[in-house]
Amino acid sequence: MRTKHWHVDNSVDVLDTYPQIEEAAELLKQDEVVAFPTETVYGLGGNALSDQAAAKIFAAKGRPADNPLIVHIASKQQVADIAVNLSQTAERLMEAFWPGPLTVILEKQPNRLSQLVTAGLETVAVRMPDHPVALAVIRKCGLPIAAPSANRSGKPSPTSARHVQDDLDGVIAGIIDGGDTGVGVESTVVDCTGSIPVILRPGGITKEDIEAVVGEAAIDAALTDMNQQPKSPGMKYKHYAPEAPVYLLDGSRSWVQSRINEQRQEGKKVGLLTTEENLPFYEADVILPCGRRDDLRTVAHSLYEVLRAFNETDVDIIYSETFPTDGVGLAIMNRLEKAAAHRWLHEKQK
Ligand code: TXA
Ligand code: MG
Repeated sequence: MRTKHWHVDNSVDVLDTYPQIEEAAELLKQDEVVAFPTETVYGLGGNALSDQAAAKIFAAKGRPADNPLIVHIASKQQVADIAVNLSQTAERLMEAFWPGPLTVILEKQPNRLSQLVTAGLETVAVRMPDHPVALAVIRKCGLPIAAPSANRSGKPSPTSARHVQDDLDGVIAGIIDGGDTGVGVESTVVDCTGSIPVILRPGGITKEDIEAVVGEAAIDAALTDMNQQPKSPGMKYKHYAPEAPVYLLDGSRSWVQSRINEQRQEGKKVGLLTTEENLPFYEADVILPCGRRDDLRTVAHSLYEVLRAFNETDVDIIYSETFPTDGVGLAIMNRLEKAAAHRWLHEKQK
């Protein structure tokens, strides 16, 4: 398949009549799959009402069939078409954070969506992205759009059109390039079917943000305890992993440098994921800065780009700095833990 490439200038204010957007929307109506930017990561969109379109998404990504997709909408009215019995909590969260990086799990409208999209569950994940291109495409085709991250399953999510191209060129109908995404980690997935909201996947909207609106929010036990079964099917899979093994390092700069030196003495090429603040202090074979510690949003923004960039190097092992888990740090550490398959090295406390 020849993948079409479109470039869209986000600052154009009449995107809905942009020929590239019209062409992409037309393909979606024909049950083809098209990648587009959102404010979090690039999504691979397809008609959520169509088995044919959903099957193409799963095939292109190599995604396990038991991992349901998020349905993307462009207006609140579209929610009634796919979900029922919305709780007050759900309404308040949607009101506060849409459009934006929040996905709500709701009771699904029976017999409307493709069964493949929801992986046979009675619930559906819904989100309204805060990106002019995503919103214009969804509005233009007039359909609810199922869109997982536009990467091959298991790879870091794409934060640029180039990443999508690296993973999916030749297997999808088109890619809309709208520049780099902003948030850099995926949306926060919140189960709103119970009495208090439960965060199933930490993301762009923080636990603190949610609590400011609804008072109390819980975190799925599986996020802190590896022995628990996650409530979000996708969270059980290994993800975001570069080719070289990643280790999370918790200790002083001098201790980290000794760990690096040890590996290099054994003839290994060592990669280091660090931050702007620490950059001058380290020596390794490949050192990639990932944002600034004093603003974790910059770390989230660059994380997947940096994880992918290590694959273009010949390092044998990747050491990574670690981050506090408040605010967006919870999402960053969740993704890093997965990239590292939970391998930690701790400096011994004196
Ligand atoms: O930021 C994002 O959310 C991006 C952009 C493209 O919108 N999308 C994204 O989709 O990250 P995906 O498919 O990579 O991740 C969707 C997550 C998975 O962990 C999946 O298991 C979970 O949402 N999910 C979907 N439907 C669910 C449901 N009914 N109940 C629980 N978890 C669900
Ligand atoms: Mg994904």
